[in-house]
Amino acid sequence: MKIAPSILSADFGCLQEQIHAVEEGGADWIHVDVMDGHFVPNLTIGPLIVEAARRATELPLDVHLMIEAPHRYLDAFVGAGADIVTVHVEACPHLHRTVDQIRKLGARPGVALNPGTPLDTVREVMADLDLIVIMSVNPGFGGQRYIPGSTDKIRRARVLAEELSVELEIEVDGGVDSRNVGEVQDAGATVVVAGSAVYGHPHGPGAGVRALRDLSVHQG
Ligand code: DX5
Ligand code: ZN
Repeated sequence: MKIAPSILSADFGCLQEQIHAVEEGGADWIHVDVMDGHFVPNLTIGPLIVEAARRATELPLDVHLMIEAPHRYLDAFVGAGADIVTVHVEACPHLHRTVDQIRKLGARPGVALNPGTPLDTVREVMADLDLIVIMSVNPGFGGQRYIPGSTDKIRRARVLAEELSVELEIEVDGGVDSRNVGEVQDAGATVVVAGSAVYGHPHGPGAGVRALRDLSVHQG
């Protein structure tokens, strides 16, 4: 299972060191949470920070766009160094076209679903994706509690992928910590995002990544 620490919970005063710390802990991807104050009630970062993260690491940058009309900014984020670009199904009336645009720009497309959004909404584009993101909190803030019903949705996402014979990563985002990472992996997640559990770990971000890795291996 891959671990993608979310820099949303990092100290942006020393972002590069904060990225190096999770890299040293064995992180697989770096998760970057982009929020626009419209699609979600919070504002975070734009392509400039993606560029700074790009300079800090060679790990894949997993850029999660929680923004309206994401097709307007795909160029900017891929140009800044995003490897994986995830858009929200709720923000894309022309989802197939948006996914296609991401692929044509040379990045790997992902689609995220809010907790209240049924899996069926991605069925028709599933074969075109590298990643499906099951949101296990309502997006907008780090440090929220994992919504228990998400585990069943992860399981159903895995079943759907098998039914369609599609190979893609199943990422779970929100509230993942040492108490639920085994259950999340067991349900079929291949990537977990963790912000507060990693950057808020009492022994530092590297230890935060290692703790999740140990638990996922033993419980999963
Ligand atoms: C939620 C973001 C998540 C979140 C992860 O809107 O997409 O990536 O910040 O942080 P934790 O692990 O603290 O829930
Ligand atoms: Zn995210």
